[in-house]
Amino acid sequence: MQNADAFDLIVQGGRCVTPSGIETLDVGIREGRIAALGSLATATTKERIDAKDLHVLPGIIDSQVHFREPGLEHKEDLGTGTASAALGGVTAIFEMPNTVPSTTSPEDLSDKVRRGREKAWVDFAFFAGAADEALPHLETMEKQEGCSGVKIFMGSSTGSLLVDDHDVLEQVLMRGTRRVAVHCEDEARLRERRPMVEKEGATAHMHPSWRDPRTAYLATERLLKTARKCGRRVHVLHVTTAEEMELLADHRDIATVEVTPQHLSLVAPDCYDRLGTYAQMNPPIREESHRKALWKALNDGIVDVIGSDHAPHTRTEKDRPYPDSPSGMPGVQTLLPLMLDHVNAGRLSLIRLVDLLCHGPARIYGVANKGRLTVGYDADLTIVDLNAFNAISHDQMASRCAWTPFHGRTVSGWPLSTIIRGNIVMKDGNLLGDPLGEPVRFAESFKSNPNLET
Ligand code: DOR
Repeated sequence: MQNADAFDLIVQGGRCVTPSGIETLDVGIREGRIAALGSLATATTKERIDAKDLHVLPGIIDSQVHFREPGLEHKEDLGTGTASAALGGVTAIFEMPNTVPSTTSPEDLSDKVRRGREKAWVDFAFFAGAADEALPHLETMEKQEGCSGVKIFMGSSTGSLLVDDHDVLEQVLMRGTRRVAVHCEDEARLRERRPMVEKEGATAHMHPSWRDPRTAYLATERLLKTARKCGRRVHVLHVTTAEEMELLADHRDIATVEVTPQHLSLVAPDCYDRLGTYAQMNPPIREESHRKALWKALNDGIVDVIGSDHAPHTRTEKDRPYPDSPSGMPGVQTLLPLMLDHVNAGRLSLIRLVDLLCHGPARIYGVANKGRLTVGYDADLTIVDLNAFNAISHDQMASRCAWTPFHGRTVSGWPLSTIIRGNIVMKDGNLLGDPLGEPVRFAESFKSNPNLET
């Protein structure tokens, strides 16, 4: 007979970030779930991890990554991308649809889920890509297993996905019920201003002038109007400007907000001086006044989520002269160390960070059973040492692109273990066992799809 006190794993004596605050607790794990939170010193268990002097967070959910499979595996694949995630303390990722082919049909989406089951180190979900040709499929796709929601590119970036026709935007927002995540840059303005970076001698310093704050604002403003007209909540990805934050603060009922660690940590022109095209991303890193506004919005409660927007490109591609260099930088492995460093510097509290990296994504996307340290939830835990000082370096990166814009930056705060559904996947910087990632389960799709198991 099974001993009711027997656990598979106990994480002992850590400072646990629970929904009711930070408490020293033991976490008892059985059959992949959190089975008990409390004092478990005398309980029997197959395995015990000593977390004394460490913090135990709910597993980190990175709700915006680009892992490039299928089609662009020379930059990244689901194995290397998710290995990078696990090493960075991330337990689940939501991956974007700008692969080759773009994820615009039910078959494309189930193909990604099949690949994920074979090689992902962390749990995963994939976005359905909005496009004219995807319109007939979006409602089917958003009900499929492993679908995190729908992604719209209002301005062109990496890949061919684009919704620049206003009718298509309305039609996407009219169909379906799941979360729609949107890249807001105005395509018409981008095209109009493109000649300014095609002149002889253009450099990455011009990137934030080409893709200027007005470009971002115009798209966000139109999105909010359309979302209201269609009665659909939207999630605005990687917001970069003071003006958008002011507007979004007035639309809390219809829009949620994401920022990235890059936009919170890097600043123009310094990043372009130091990193050139390696600092190029869409929307761009901007000047200090915008960075300050992002921090203010974060601390005022306007920001709901931090996502890494991990977007790897090879060094050879990034070394092309601007503007032929692709936009995007890797970030899934540095997301948590960078943000813990901001916690240690007093810019936000650990509780607020857990809200942005765990509760926020779970709430916005309707994740069924992750994002909190609560009995009954998946035993996804990220154990961190807030006192560890470490220099971030290129050679730590498991991403196939093998570089990071944060090379040489010393941070305080580091993930020591990544536990997914009770399995220790990463310990002290090493991956353990075999990839065991599974599709993330979503509450909203379960309600609307009787064929999926609850
Ligand atoms: O800089 C970016 N890179 N922004 C995006 O929207 C896409 C991403 C990529 O996939 O490379």
